[in-house]
Amino acid sequence: VQNGREARPPDLASPVVRQLLTDTIDRFAARGVVISSVEQLPIEGGASSDRIFRVEVSYTSFQSERSRIRLILKYCSDTELAVLQRLQQAGQRHVPFALPLEKNEKAPTLVCMQDLGADHRPDSLSEIPPQLQEREAEALADIHFDNLQSPDLGWLPVTSRAYYTWTIEEQFFRPAWRTALADPKFLSRFGSWVDRVEDAASRTVDEMTTLSAVPQWRTLVHTDINPSNVLIVGDLLYIIDWGTAHQGPLFIDLPHHLSTREQAEDYRLALGRRGLTIDADVFTSAYKVAAQYTGLRYIWWTLDAWHDDPTMDRWIDHYLQMILS
Ligand SMILES: Nc1ncnc2c1ncn2[C@@H]1O[C@H](COP(=O)(O)OP(=O)(O)OP(=O)(O)O)[C@@H](O)[C@H]1O
Ligand SMILES: [Mg+2]
Repeated sequence: VQNGREARPPDLASPVVRQLLTDTIDRFAARGVVISSVEQLPIEGGASSDRIFRVEVSYTSFQSERSRIRLILKYCSDTELAVLQRLQQAGQRHVPFALPLEKNEKAPTLVCMQDLGADHRPDSLSEIPPQLQEREAEALADIHFDNLQSPDLGWLPVTSRAYYTWTIEEQFFRPAWRTALADPKFLSRFGSWVDRVEDAASRTVDEMTTLSAVPQWRTLVHTDINPSNVLIVGDLLYIIDWGTAHQGPLFIDLPHHLSTREQAEDYRLALGRRGLTIDADVFTSAYKVAAQYTGLRYIWWTLDAWHDDPTMDRWIDHYLQMILS
């Protein structure tokens, strides 16, 4: 649980929660809202059941006798809440509307947000409609460009050398890699790649640190772009789950979904249209550094899963390709 605190399910009958729901609907959907009932609905996927809830609220308003709306209640960390509010205030279209309970010293804060349904972006090995990929590139370019070199991001953690060391050596790559290397089955299938992966892992912290030092590329970054955090509603695309946001190099958000340089070109062009032109060759080199890091950052789940499911090969191959690109 973020901020190291257990969250308790919100009491849907309590006046504070009812007020939060009323205020949210009032602000974003209708005026003169009076709630008649609140029902909890299931949330699909692997949402942590102790932090994220879906409710269906029945209400009347000035405009209509009876309406219903689905909303999400999530206990958000201070970072996630601050990012949502910042992007919302800037008129950013690619995040859900959100309203917090009044902040007390107890973190995390209960936040009521737009229910974006259950359609996630396809993963990188599945087919994706070109328009959807472009839309994602545009969304990232919008958010990155709006916050480029912003002087008031001081409250966000920075993707420092220590951050890269931690994600690679402690949190994600190294523990899973160590376990994989102890598995003879893994070695006989992937052993020929081991030295090159080690080589990439030994360089990635330095290289990402260098990338992060370029002021022109520093912005608000998400750092965990993955299908569960990119939701699709009709023609619109939303990025959720901002709890791991940082100040960092824009490249860090690209390779997991825009997983070839060709796909990332949509993003480079979108950024150029907004006013930041990065020379194609310069972009290619920086993208490659970020792709290696991203392969190392995400390969852990395939290593863990492959142990029980050899059809995960193609996922390991995918991340290896990024690491060794
Ligand atoms: N606004 C929303 N609309 C619709 N579904 C949502 C919304 N927010 C969260 N969810 C669902 O809950 C899942 C987890 O939410 P989120 O990514 O914000 O939390 P998390 O911190 O990653 O938690 P977890 O550890 O469960 O992934 C999402 O992948 C999505 O399926
Ligand atoms: Mg998530």
